[in-house]
Amino acid sequence: MSQCQFDYREKTVFVAGGTSGINLGIAQGFAKAGATLAVMSRSQNKVDTAIETLKQYGGRVIGFAADVRDVDRLKVVFEQTHRELGPIDVLVSGAAGNFPAAANEMSGNAFKVVVDIDLLGTFNVLRYSYEYLRKPGASIINISAPQAFIPMEMQAHVCAAKAGVDMITRTTAIEWGPEGVRVNSLVPGPIEGTEGMKRLAPSGSSCAKLVVDSVPLKRQGTVVDMANAALFIASDLASYINGAILPVDGGWGLGGAGQLGQSLATMAQLAKSAQVPDA
Ligand code: HXC
Ligand code: NAP
Repeated sequence: MSQCQFDYREKTVFVAGGTSGINLGIAQGFAKAGATLAVMSRSQNKVDTAIETLKQYGGRVIGFAADVRDVDRLKVVFEQTHRELGPIDVLVSGAAGNFPAAANEMSGNAFKVVVDIDLLGTFNVLRYSYEYLRKPGASIINISAPQAFIPMEMQAHVCAAKAGVDMITRTTAIEWGPEGVRVNSLVPGPIEGTEGMKRLAPSGSSCAKLVVDSVPLKRQGTVVDMANAALFIASDLASYINGAILPVDGGWGLGGAGQLGQSLATMAQLAKSAQVPDA
């Protein structure tokens, strides 16, 4: 399906964490479909580059350097977005952090930092944008992960955080549905060329091979796969879909994804015993 079959020319789309990887791919999908865009992440350089990338599609684009953990800054960001662009039609919340670490080895602060970015950050983004969403009609997309429902070794922090993200999706879907605001999660599978995959399954590693083998469709996904799903779920075609947790993963979450945790744990053990992991 071509992304151009969707028409977002009258819509404003805000993407938290929208300056790289999957979230930037989603922002590009909306930009191609004519949307006005606002993107936000911590790095001013990444924001500036994303703005240039998105402007190529011809629409208006603004951007903010901000941290989803900084509530005061978020209040300013959403107030300014509303002042410049009007009500937000589509809100994508996708800022996240990840690193592989065993539960008995990571510090409390290491666990907390991921929970603070992924889970509390998602709450902050939804909470402080809420008054600026178009009502009725707005669509919120939270970016989850297979770790939300598949326990994965070396990922206790991410599993806990993303499971919480999906419960925020479900609870806000109930609370905000009466206002005409739909809330759904998209659950990416392994998406090629992204920071997440570089961290968990670098190309050429045994983890990368295992990932492709364990996806029923026998390939990694693309950021365009993610953008297509986002364009659909935010559209009128999905107007009765609310509180859904939608995998976009080639079937990886049906069982294969759990194997990545075992592979990460094995790699960590091998590294510890000073063996070459991918000989
Ligand atoms: C153990 C680690 C660690 C590691 C950091 N920490 N990296 N612990 N192993 N590899 C610990 C630090 O020692 C510190 O604890 C605490 O975490 C906070 O570290 P900071 O560097 O101060 O945090 P911060 O600067 O806020 O950076 C956040 C971050 C970083 C998550 C650590 O990696 C980041 O900014 N990531 C954003 C990009 C990213 O991760 N993208 C991938 C998303 S993919 P102490 O105790 O020393 O204070 C994804 C799902 C992929 O989310 C799913 C694929 C299937
Ligand atoms: P990515 O490129 O690192 O994307 C993360 C984005 O969030 C970046 O734009 C980053 O920019 C921003 N960010 C990080 N911490 C932030 C903070 N505290 N405040 C504001 N912005 C912050 O990684 P990705 O792999 O594409 O992942 C994108 C999303 O998909 C994440 O939610 C991830 O959990 C999910 N996911 C990814 C995969 C995969 O295969 N990659 C699989 C499942 C789920 P700055 O550094 O400038 O802040």
